[in-house]
Amino acid sequence: MPKDTPAPNDMRFAVVTGASSGIGLALAKRLAQEGYDLVLAGRDADRLADAADEIVALGRRVAVRQVDLSDPYELEDFAATLTVQVPDVLVNNAGFGAYGHFAGIDPGLTLNMIDTNVTALARLTAAVLPGMLARGEGRILNVASTGAFAPLPFSAVYGATKAFVLSFSEAVAEELKGSPVTVTALCPGPTATRFFDRAGWDGTRLFKGPMVTAETVADCGVKAMAAGRRVAVVGLLNKVMIFAIRLAPRRLVGEATRFMLASRSR
Ligand SMILES: NC(=O)c1ccc[n+]([C@@H]2O[C@H](COP(=O)([O-])OP(=O)(O)OC[C@H]3O[C@@H](n4cnc5c(N)ncnc54)[C@H](OP(=O)(O)O)[C@@H]3O)[C@@H](O)[C@H]2O)c1
Repeated sequence: MPKDTPAPNDMRFAVVTGASSGIGLALAKRLAQEGYDLVLAGRDADRLADAADEIVALGRRVAVRQVDLSDPYELEDFAATLTVQVPDVLVNNAGFGAYGHFAGIDPGLTLNMIDTNVTALARLTAAVLPGMLARGEGRILNVASTGAFAPLPFSAVYGATKAFVLSFSEAVAEELKGSPVTVTALCPGPTATRFFDRAGWDGTRLFKGPMVTAETVADCGVKAMAAGRRVAVVGLLNKVMIFAIRLAPRRLVGEATRFMLASRSR
């Protein structure tokens, strides 16, 4: 699939960022099954090409957009195309984490994470919202995390970026109340993807706990988005956990997440 293929010229198309693997790929396939043509955005050309083949096999048209969302110029260029050709659905899924004491994490990596998880998500939302409102239709699905509800020691910035996604999504959803455009924050708990390896969370207690599949997360997300729900927490266990987090003293919550995220070798 060539780089920067133009978007399908169709009224019903969805853009998914971070569609080259994991939850993003599962969301793209789920949206294809719902009848959307797809624009798959990400950095890894080979993985995007494989993902595109999977969408084509589902009978939908697909375009690939190779973009590093942490690069301000590439982000601006991508945002400009979405302003002109406004998708029916925008899924802001691309994101990653980093593990360790905040003081020890490379500041460059921290800023890159904020650029990807926060700045790009806000910029792309800003790119599509006016067009969606003018058209009188549109859905935005932002991938947050159950980690958005609690401080995350050893992944402090990652947790804060997801708290941003949740707060931002809920606030814009409230602004849009009564309009036909909706914003949904999807909050998965531990999910079997490349995330844990890449974020360095594979040595934690959380990694040893129960995980759901990316397909389960995608199913929950697409249903919640279609229903126009503001927040979708994946799975009963996570819903119970978040209920408890809301009731518990904040300091206790921090101690509990520290226990789950401390390296098992410590
Ligand atoms: N897995 C979990 O347990 C879990 C739980 C809660 C929330 N989440 C969230 O779910 C989302 C998807 O993660 P995942 O679990 O599916 O992990 P993943 O398999 O590592 O997928 C991450 C995706 O984001 C893309 N991405 C990362 N940085 C990018 C950048 N600068 N520009 C463009 N694309 C970029 C990756 O593309 P490349 O191939 O180019 O790297 C990849 O497609 C993330 O926002 C993550 O925070 C995951």
